[in-house]
Amino acid sequence: MQRIQLANDLSFSRVIHGEMRSLEWGMSVDDYQGFIEQLLARGITTIDHADIYGGFEGEAFLGKVFAQAPSLRDQLEIVTKCGIQYPNPQYPTTYTTHYNYEYEYIIQQAERSLTTLQIETLDVLLLHRPSPLMDAQAIAKAFVDLKAAGKVRHFGVSNFYQDHFNLIQAAIDQPLVTNQIEVSAVCHEHIDNGNLDFLQCKQVAPMIWSPLAGGRIFQPQSAADIRTKQAIEEIATDLGVSVDAVLYAWLYKMPNNLMPIVGSGKLERIDVAIDALELTLTVQQWFTILQAQMGHSIK
Ligand SMILES: NC(=O)c1ccc[n+]([C@@H]2O[C@H](COP(=O)([O-])OP(=O)(O)OC[C@H]3O[C@@H](n4cnc5c(N)ncnc54)[C@H](OP(=O)(O)O)[C@@H]3O)[C@@H](O)[C@H]2O)c1
Repeated sequence: MQRIQLANDLSFSRVIHGEMRSLEWGMSVDDYQGFIEQLLARGITTIDHADIYGGFEGEAFLGKVFAQAPSLRDQLEIVTKCGIQYPNPQYPTTYTTHYNYEYEYIIQQAERSLTTLQIETLDVLLLHRPSPLMDAQAIAKAFVDLKAAGKVRHFGVSNFYQDHFNLIQAAIDQPLVTNQIEVSAVCHEHIDNGNLDFLQCKQVAPMIWSPLAGGRIFQPQSAADIRTKQAIEEIATDLGVSVDAVLYAWLYKMPNNLMPIVGSGKLERIDVAIDALELTLTVQQWFTILQAQMGHSIK
């Protein structure tokens, strides 16, 4: 498994596993432990989580694994996120969806993640989505205090555009280690808005969420998705691989070490992401897929 160096003392496995859907997989705690052990056996050591996953219950499920198999924790890089709040039974005073980056809230959620995950330190804490109310100085103070307390080693962001990234980076002493963004053959936002170029310029390797468009590409509804799937199927047939393998290879073709976060609970689907590291698309195959989604030829 390739490893991507994000800081002197931090590297991620090129293929990351995402826990957003973990409560949907119907696993017992023993099953989930076995699943994490299988990820490790494949060289996947980086786990992506968030306080909100599973209705604010997902981290506790992984925490039960760490409680019964504590030695697993030190073999993993644990990434989690804070900031999003929505009405839910765990937070009865929340009556509207919002993003909260006030100092106290960041500290509270980081500490909550440590408690629910049953671990001592987060490897990376991400700000989940940018907010117009972000006070960079308050965020910087929270980062300093969490690091000084040994609770978080590194910080990053998610769904941030360039200005948001620069705002936070300018206020803190240590480099933001990643920006977790959505990119896939059917989601070009961060290609079109220059964010991927910006991150390459900064030498910040992005984590990529929904690399298979959350599964949507397999049951395409829109004309653009139908076109894209058809283009991918033709290339997959030519190469003798699956549609998902081409979707991953399309991401791997881009510069700056995009790190897909695989959201499947099925090991055979995770293996496709790993095996696709050996699959190289030509430039023309890459552009064929890009243009299928666009619906017209580039100039
Ligand atoms: N930062 C953010 O704002 C943000 C937002 C969303 C997600 N994330 C992170 O990104 C991770 C991945 O997101 P994602 O789960 O949307 O990723 P994804 O890998 O694009 O989608 C996973 C979904 O696709 C299905 N799938 C995979 N292969 C398939 C196939 N061959 N045929 C049919 N369905 C297939 C999976 O079902 P099976 O489980 O049945 O295989 C699963 O439901 C999350 O776990 C989370 O960690 C971050």
